[in-house]
Amino acid sequence: MSRRKNTIIEISELSHVYKGKIETTALSGVNLNVKKGERLVVRGKSGVGKTTLLHCIAGILRPTKGRISVNNQDILQYNENQLADYRCKTVGLIYQSYNLAYFLTVKENIEFPMLLMDKKQDERDKRIEELAEFLEISRYLNQKPEFLSGGEQQRVAIALALANNPPIVLADEPTGNIDIETAETVYTHLSHMCQIYDTTLVIASHDPNASKFAEREVNLTELEFQKKK
Ligand SMILES: Nc1ncnc2c1ncn2[C@@H]1O[C@H](COP(=O)(O)OP(=O)(O)OP(=O)(O)O)[C@@H](O)[C@H]1O
Ligand SMILES: [Mg+2]
Repeated sequence: MSRRKNTIIEISELSHVYKGKIETTALSGVNLNVKKGERLVVRGKSGVGKTTLLHCIAGILRPTKGRISVNNQDILQYNENQLADYRCKTVGLIYQSYNLAYFLTVKENIEFPMLLMDKKQDERDKRIEELAEFLEISRYLNQKPEFLSGGEQQRVAIALALANNPPIVLADEPTGNIDIETAETVYTHLSHMCQIYDTTLVIASHDPNASKFAEREVNLTELEFQKKK
C-alpha cells in the first residue's frame, strides 16, 4: 500500500478493549487517515470511543490491536523515551476534563510543557504572552485555575496544548462544559491558531458549532466498518 504524501496520521484496524472486572470493547477495527493541516471533527454517540481514540493517538493509551502511524512513524513501536518525546513535541491534547494542575497558576500550567522541552525563560514568557493574549486569558495568568470559569479553564487547557506549537492538536470535547456563545469563541480561537501554524486539528465533539470550523466530519461508528482503500 502506498502512503499518501500529505497524510500525517494513519490509523489502521485499531481496536481497544478495556480489561477489568468487565471487559469493554471501546474501539473495534478503526481505519482513519488525517491529512497534514486538516481540521477534522470526530462524531459519535457518548461511549462510542472518541476519547479512547484520541488518547491512543496522543500516545497515552496503548491500544490492544492495530497500527497508528504519525509522520510515517509507527508510534506503537516507540520506546518510553521516544513516546515521551512524541507527547511533548508532536501532539497537544486538550483533555475532556481540562486536566489542569490546580496547585499551579495559569501561567505555570501553560509553562509546564515548555519546561519539559528545556525552552529558555524568554522564549517561554514570549509564548505564554502570545497565547494568553490570543485566547484572552492574560488577566488570569497569576491566578489558580479554580478561580476561573469553565470556559476560561478550557482556554487555559487549549493554551497548554498549543504551548510547544505541536503539529497535531487533539481536542476532546473542548466545549463540553460551556455555553454556546463561549463555545463559538473557543472554536474560533482554536481554528485560527491552527490555521496560522498549519496545525492538524482533530476534534471529538457532539457540539454542532464544531462543524463550522472543520473541513471534514467523520462518524466513529462508521469508521469501524469502512474498508481501507
Ligand atoms: N478507563 C476505562 N476503563 C474501562 N472502560 C472504559 C474506560 N474508559 C472508557 N471506558 C469505556 O469505553 C467506552 C468508550 O469510552 P470513551 O470515553 O472513549 O467514549 P466517548 O465516545 O469519548 O464518550 P463521551 O462522548 O461520553 O465522551 C465506554 O463504553 C466506556 O465506558
Ligand atoms: Mg469522551
